[in-house]
Amino acid sequence: MIIGGSSSQKLAASIAREMDDILCPLESRKFPDGERYIRIKGDIDEGVVVVQSTGYPQDENLIELFLILKTIRKMGIKKIRTVIPYFGYGRQEKSFNHGEAISAEVVSQLIQESGASEIYSINLHEESICNLFNIPAYNLSAMPAIASFIGENVEDPVILAPDKGALGFAHEISNILNCESDYLEKIRLSPNKVETKPKNLDVDNREVVIIDDIISTGGTIVNACSILKEHGASRIMVSCVHPVLVEDALLKIFAAGADEVVSTDTLKSEVSTVSVASVVADALKKSF
Ligand code: R5P
Repeated sequence: MIIGGSSSQKLAASIAREMDDILCPLESRKFPDGERYIRIKGDIDEGVVVVQSTGYPQDENLIELFLILKTIRKMGIKKIRTVIPYFGYGRQEKSFNHGEAISAEVVSQLIQESGASEIYSINLHEESICNLFNIPAYNLSAMPAIASFIGENVEDPVILAPDKGALGFAHEISNILNCESDYLEKIRLSPNKVETKPKNLDVDNREVVIIDDIISTGGTIVNACSILKEHGASRIMVSCVHPVLVEDALLKIFAAGADEVVSTDTLKSEVSTVSVASVVADALKKSF
């Protein structure tokens, strides 16, 4: 039985279809004062899967997740596999300045204490978040699903990471598609002049696919698109796992020269074209 929280109902349905499983009806609404109410309206058993991304509105989605998990626990179920496709608060996984909360740690503990027995997430911002749990936690990769979409839609692409940190994603995709990959490197030409360009490859007249884990404000991708335009890329497809897409991020990306933007459905958005349902379903099938 699969339970989809408010933030992930379509994805939960796709996972249920992939697993030939059924969806459990969930009533979730708010009281007039804004407090959340949930009711699980089906008979569930051991091995139930809860799917809930904890992106915007993060706090509401988290509270709903805690309520679902605790309610299932109270029904006597011990094995509650919890899929958190996008793990909110994941970017504050350590204390960068004295006195800061380690938000990812707090959130992990609360999820675990609410009753989760296993965690499945997709491209966590830091793999080390898995270690914040005392229960099995798996960091799955959406790159095979994204690679398959690129393979069907772009001929002979260059896969490009917008910075060195995302190079692992570009390599993962280029290994699957057997194509070239590179990253944008910042070179300091003089004390006040910095140039950013593809490290090794000439992108002139090439179809380029940019890959990153998250697009938030869009600043990183806007910068990358402008550089690729300057270097003569003939087509720019922008891809990411988690479309956080704050405010007018998409508009800025298209204005910077992107021809297409595609993301997975870890979060709902107008570009969530690639589903991670099979990635999640395969991992769940292996673990049962
Ligand atoms: C950085 O570590 C991430 O991989 C992304 O590049 C970053 O979160 C994107 O943020 P923004 O869209 O605000 O530039």
